[in-house]
Amino acid sequence: MELLPKRGSMRISSLFICSLYLLLSTLLSPAYAKKQTYVVYLGSHARDPEIEVSTLEYNTVRDSHYNLLGSFLGSKEKAQDAIFYSYTRHINGFAATLDEAEVAEISKHQDVISVFLNEPRKLHTTRSWEFVGLERDGQIQPSWSNARFGEDTIIANLDSGVWPESRSFSDEEFGPIPAKWKGICQNGEDPTFHCNRKLIGARFFNKGYFTGVGSQANVSAFNSPRDDDGHGTHTLSTAGGNFVSGVNVFGVGNGTAKGGSPKARVAAYKVCGPEIPGAGSCYDADILAGFDMAIQDGVDVISISLGGTAGPYFQDSIAIGSFHAIKLGIVVVSSAGNNGPKEATVSNLAPWLITVAASSMDRQFTTNLILDNNMSFTGVSLSDKCLPNNTFFPIVTAKSVKAANVTDEDAELCKTGAMDPIKAKGKILVCMRGEIGRVEKGLNAALVGAVGIVIANTEANGDELLSDPHIVPALQISYVDGQALIAYVNSTISPTAYITPPTTLLGTKPAPVMAEFSSRGPNKITPEILKPDITAPGVNVIAAYTEAHGPVDKGFDTRRTPYFVQSGTSMACPHVAGVAGLLKTLHPGWSPAAIKSAIMTTTRTRDNAVERITNGPNEKATPFNYGAGHIRPNRAMDPGLIYDLTDEDYLSFLCALDYNEKQIMLFTNSPFICPKPISLVNLNYPSITIPFFNGPITVTRTVKNVGSSPATYIARVINPPGLFIDVQPKTLTFATIGEQKSFNVTITATKLSAIGGNLFGSLTWLDGKHYVRSPIVVQASH
Ligand SMILES: *[C@@H]1O[C@H](CO)[C@@H](O)[C@H](O)[C@H]1NC(C)=O
Ligand SMILES: *[C@@H]1O[C@H](CO)[C@@H](O)[C@H](O)[C@H]1NC(C)=O
Ligand SMILES: *[C@@H]1O[C@H](CO)[C@@H](O)[C@H](O)[C@H]1NC(C)=O
Ligand SMILES: *[C@@H]1O[C@H](CO)[C@@H](O)[C@H](O)[C@H]1NC(C)=O
Ligand SMILES: *[C@@H]1O[C@H](CO)[C@@H](O)[C@H](O)[C@H]1NC(C)=O
Ligand SMILES: *[C@@H]1O[C@H](CO)[C@@H](O)[C@H](O)[C@H]1NC(C)=O
Ligand SMILES: *[C@@H]1O[C@H](CO)[C@@H](O)[C@H](O)[C@H]1NC(C)=O
Repeated sequence: MELLPKRGSMRISSLFICSLYLLLSTLLSPAYAKKQTYVVYLGSHARDPEIEVSTLEYNTVRDSHYNLLGSFLGSKEKAQDAIFYSYTRHINGFAATLDEAEVAEISKHQDVISVFLNEPRKLHTTRSWEFVGLERDGQIQPSWSNARFGEDTIIANLDSGVWPESRSFSDEEFGPIPAKWKGICQNGEDPTFHCNRKLIGARFFNKGYFTGVGSQANVSAFNSPRDDDGHGTHTLSTAGGNFVSGVNVFGVGNGTAKGGSPKARVAAYKVCGPEIPGAGSCYDADILAGFDMAIQDGVDVISISLGGTAGPYFQDSIAIGSFHAIKLGIVVVSSAGNNGPKEATVSNLAPWLITVAASSMDRQFTTNLILDNNMSFTGVSLSDKCLPNNTFFPIVTAKSVKAANVTDEDAELCKTGAMDPIKAKGKILVCMRGEIGRVEKGLNAALVGAVGIVIANTEANGDELLSDPHIVPALQISYVDGQALIAYVNSTISPTAYITPPTTLLGTKPAPVMAEFSSRGPNKITPEILKPDITAPGVNVIAAYTEAHGPVDKGFDTRRTPYFVQSGTSMACPHVAGVAGLLKTLHPGWSPAAIKSAIMTTTRTRDNAVERITNGPNEKATPFNYGAGHIRPNRAMDPGLIYDLTDEDYLSFLCALDYNEKQIMLFTNSPFICPKPISLVNLNYPSITIPFFNGPITVTRTVKNVGSSPATYIARVINPPGLFIDVQPKTLTFATIGEQKSFNVTITATKLSAIGGNLFGSLTWLDGKHYVRSPIVVQASH
């Protein structure tokens, strides 16, 4: 799995990971007995998950795994050698070293749901809470205090661990640990690692990593839950970190850092080790072990900011782990991925996950480039290096100072060794964004003696500006500005310029804007389910960080930043986990689906300039970019109506995916009869998506009243272009709280021949106080 921050151009396609993995294994062993590590997934345990079980019983389960695998390998002893994890708590299955022939045989066994490779995945302050409305002019809004800041809720993340010394996890003012907590603080090889009444638990899971490509890594960096990366500390503090005042990064972004549920307790499950070049850092077998334990330990919310390429649900450790979590009422929030802006790139597609896209907030760390003709360009940077005051330096394009042996393209991108030190010395270089890390371009410029850099966006990047901790005076500017700057530099004899130190600008418009990197829909596994579900702040988010390395994570960077800025859907995900924590405190009896519905039906789809949210200056965003819209926690706490889902609904969903009743029995304790006929468009999801539309279709939804009673809601529809939407009945009356009402939505084409492509509309139920909005997405076949 991939941690999902947006780090320069360090994007590696999964295809590459797989081929590298296969290549290594092919080289290491003869083809006929190629051993690799796999997960063998067996569904649920045949026991009531609410009942406490003894260690003896776990041993019995483990034994059953040895017997099952032993029957294929010839002996129980061989099975004991091969198995490196037995999942005994909630998830039933094991991880083992096997060859392809063995896998083929085991897959046929009637108790086996799936067998899949233990593959690596990648990991995908705070103004953001004010931006989403929990604060206004620095004042806490009543809904936040009503939800008691997430008190008594336990939020966990599966990530790269945690930096326990961070002030975001201090336990001052926290009472005793909630009695329901059953976890531990496993410090492994790091005696300085500790938990407290705020950070109540930590564990690490590394066997899948070390049997995979991770065997090349520094072992001691993954033998404790300590976060040597920074990603896990950042995401956990965004979901549930304390209020910490006086936080800034190199003097900018001053403010009080905090999580969405600042009074929640938190726990870290480290499932990701140091990143191996060319591979991910989080392995399926470890992710499943983390889920199994977090469920057992008694967490309420799981935030998981990582993912890989979307595939079948039961060959995907996040889909499997979260399926077992939601059965026990645990909300699981995941990131959508950083593979945008291409279509159909969104991952974490299971309908029981809340899948989060990333967008900007109304804050920028601005820096100006001032030219000798008084022309100036505004860009962004988080560099702590400044040019001497008001001293102008020659400015040149990197291409114009290229080394003799390199191409124009390599020089333009400021690649390593592409500039000539004699020509570049003492100058500000203009580099194009792309291919290599943005901070690395600055380093390359510094290595040839340049005094600063300007990174100009390409046309594809448009206006997307990411503030980076450059090690030289630097700024990043938009495509349009970049072209104007290059034209000036091109056409002027001896131009000179000056770069100002970064400052914090608030209230910038428009915001939010969808991040270019945020993965897009449609959902390529189950197109009837809209993904992503929602968007939240994920650009330039300040939160707690590791102090194991500097912000650039390279040996030369000796700076340490207890709070740091990062961007990615990884950063957006814990914002929603923090809000889910508030909802858990406020409505402890609500199901994960109810909490998700509350979050999805109360969003905004307009930005702070009161226009529809955009993907940049020239493109309106759609539900394929932001799902139901931008998170609005104040309203989520009082949604009025919810679209709920039960375990049976998810089992029916599995029937629709063509799992037969015997297989479905493996997920549950009691027999289940698949309803017939069954249609995926009727899953009671808070959004409506019709793929392959080619004529009238009716879908059914059921809402539950959780607002006031009596209550009367009327339907308001925005028709997608060329379509007509009829809702029956058009009025829903509720006499009591908890009452449920069903309605039908019929979609017809008004001019069938004229329509085609993706069409977007919405349905909103209004009672004068609540607006319960669902996006409607129709993919017309012609
Ligand atoms: C391995 O990791 C540990 C813990 O992070 C660190 O102290 C040590 O310096 C690392 N060793 C190497 C060779 O990188
Ligand atoms: C930000 O905080 C730092 C340290 O607390 C302080 O030195 C600086 O003056 C502050 N800047 C602003 C603009 O408030
Ligand atoms: C630039 O602005 C400064 C102060 O505003 C002024 O003194 C100077 O003459 C201007 N230079 C040009 C080239 O316009
Ligand atoms: C630059 O000028 C500002 C204000 O004029 C001053 O506060 C700052 O210390 C100066 N910086 C340097 C590096 O001289
Ligand atoms: C170009 O030549 C220089 C000097 O010989 C060398 O340092 C640099 O690495 C070379 N660059 C490339 C891209 O080959
Ligand atoms: C700058 O000049 C080069 C030729 O020297 C040309 O290829 C390029 O298009 C010019 N760029 C702009 C933005 O004018
Ligand atoms: C929805 O449509 C179905 C099938 O046409 C019908 O049986 C059902 O009564 C309708 N439900 C409502 C609430 O109108």
